[in-house]
Amino acid sequence: MTNHPLPRLDENPDLRQRLLAFCRLKPGQVWHDPNGKHRVGCLDATEKTGLGSLVQPDRIQLAIQDPPYNLVAFSTRAVDEYVQWSRKWVEATLSVMGDNAALYVWLGADQNEGFQPLPDFMMMMRGFSSLKSRSLITMRNQRGYGTQKNWMAIRQELLYYIKGEPAFTVQYTDIPKILQGYYKSVGGVRTENLERGKSDCIRPGNVWVDIQQVFYRLDENVNGCYGQKPLKAIQRIISASSAEGHTVLDSFAHSGTTLLACEMLGRRCITLDIDPVFCEIAIRRLENYRRTRRLGWQNSNPFAFELGQDAADAAPLLEGVS
Ligand SMILES: C[S@@+](CC[C@H](N)C(=O)[O-])C[C@H]1O[C@@H](n2cnc3c(N)ncnc32)[C@H](O)[C@@H]1O
Repeated sequence: MTNHPLPRLDENPDLRQRLLAFCRLKPGQVWHDPNGKHRVGCLDATEKTGLGSLVQPDRIQLAIQDPPYNLVAFSTRAVDEYVQWSRKWVEATLSVMGDNAALYVWLGADQNEGFQPLPDFMMMMRGFSSLKSRSLITMRNQRGYGTQKNWMAIRQELLYYIKGEPAFTVQYTDIPKILQGYYKSVGGVRTENLERGKSDCIRPGNVWVDIQQVFYRLDENVNGCYGQKPLKAIQRIISASSAEGHTVLDSFAHSGTTLLACEMLGRRCITLDIDPVFCEIAIRRLENYRRTRRLGWQNSNPFAFELGQDAADAAPLLEGVS
């Protein structure tokens, strides 16, 4: 694949404007997967009616939400507004979640601003009586900031809530168990932890240190995106908290990581983004995977053809828009 990086689209409004001409969805429209599995809506996550037109109530077994959290300066008023805005998309999410379903939310904690919006978001979530908190997961990034005068900031927070009693499947990392000596008596026999385990590898627990942050050398890299989550992290969530054939919701599609992970793991995905450009990128990422088995574009980009960069990267616009 040829080397054609696309700059971050949030910092290049003119380029984003140019790309709009190549997007098959306009605000309010929905892409129906010709294979009959997934749907992508150019919709606002906070609007229940839009989401309701895409998916029936009770249909969602798992929601993975990754809202933008760095778009506002965190003055007190901005945090309040952010939390009020968040309440709306949580309500919309709940309106389509089944009786036994899981909700995961990626969120930031700005260490220079009272760790907001994480604490106020958590307080807001306590108001939803149907949701029970289950875990606060931290994923370790490789790149950080503030390395000289503070502890390097390398964490990403992931909140896990449940509604009812959804199933949970224990996950394992690829990190072999190396420590011995945690003895316990099982049926009168003294066993050591390596003997007792169901896997030779350790579990991720609620501190994930084994996931590579997305960067330009990875196949899964989608140039132009600024908030792409690692595929492995989303696959882990899906494998733990849903089963094959289940329907997964992601209301902030961006690069389409959840859509791709659902395709790979045999789940149905309902995903939305308010921005037609990111809807288009998510759809193209799925189509590109179906054609080539590639996870992203590494050094190239989803619009290389239209930008006159590389005919080999052309993604034919498929039917299915309503
Ligand atoms: C942090 S990114 C999500 C990253 C995604 N998990 C991935 O792996 O690529 C947030 C996305 O939310 C979208 N967004 C912002 N406000 C929205 C809204 N009200 N409704 C739907 N999408 C919205 C943005 O356009 C952006 O693409």
